[in-house]
Amino acid sequence: MTDGTRELVIAMDGPAGAGKSTVARIVANRLGYLYIDTGAMYRALALKALRLGIPETDAAALADLADATEVELQRAPDGGNRVLLDGEDVTAEIRSPAVSAVVSQVSAVPRLRQRLIEVQRSMARAGGVVMDGRDIGSYVLPDADRKFYITASLQERARRRVAQLRAEGHEADLAAVEAEIARRDEQDMNKGVHSLVQLPESIVIDTTGKRVDEVVEEILRHCRRT
Ligand code: DC
Repeated sequence: MTDGTRELVIAMDGPAGAGKSTVARIVANRLGYLYIDTGAMYRALALKALRLGIPETDAAALADLADATEVELQRAPDGGNRVLLDGEDVTAEIRSPAVSAVVSQVSAVPRLRQRLIEVQRSMARAGGVVMDGRDIGSYVLPDADRKFYITASLQERARRRVAQLRAEGHEADLAAVEAEIARRDEQDMNKGVHSLVQLPESIVIDTTGKRVDEVVEEILRHCRRT
């Protein structure tokens, strides 16, 4: 392919509950690209640690666990990701509140990250991907063609998460979810080179009060070539 038609590498970073994965998946579908949900990979490892009783504070055991684990993302029919943990489909289970409660700390282990980041980079090598995470534009794919920072107010993010949890059949209390998201923001913004940061070159999209289709169109406008 010539440079003019090469498919883009698109990085989407932002805090929990900003609507990032929803819009990233739709944008990927619209462009015919592969959507890669890196948070799901950290969730899969957190789930395995929970099952094995490895505490989220035991960095050495978590790093060893990552070395002995296969996490794979496949394209689901809706353009989302099917998540395989050592070959087992854990797509639904990784969204449980128990996993959400420990995943940020699990994902802070450097050797564990390094292993997943190798997989992420190899998936993006051929282009035509929308990769969603926290450190994608800054660390995983610093040469991405487009970098987006998707955000929303804490209150709106908590409201959306509660609606999503309830729709999935979990119990959810707004104040508790808001506190949990604030705690995760704090952790996700303090992971050294992997911290969630708003880069100078990032296009900032604030989704507060906007419909999904409006946000998608805004992003697609930025992805058009001039
Ligand atoms: O996007 P999410 O809520 O599914 O992400 C789960 C956790 O994984 C979140 O606390 C941050 C972490 N994460 C990360 O550290 N780096 C990424 N690239 C993606 C997610």
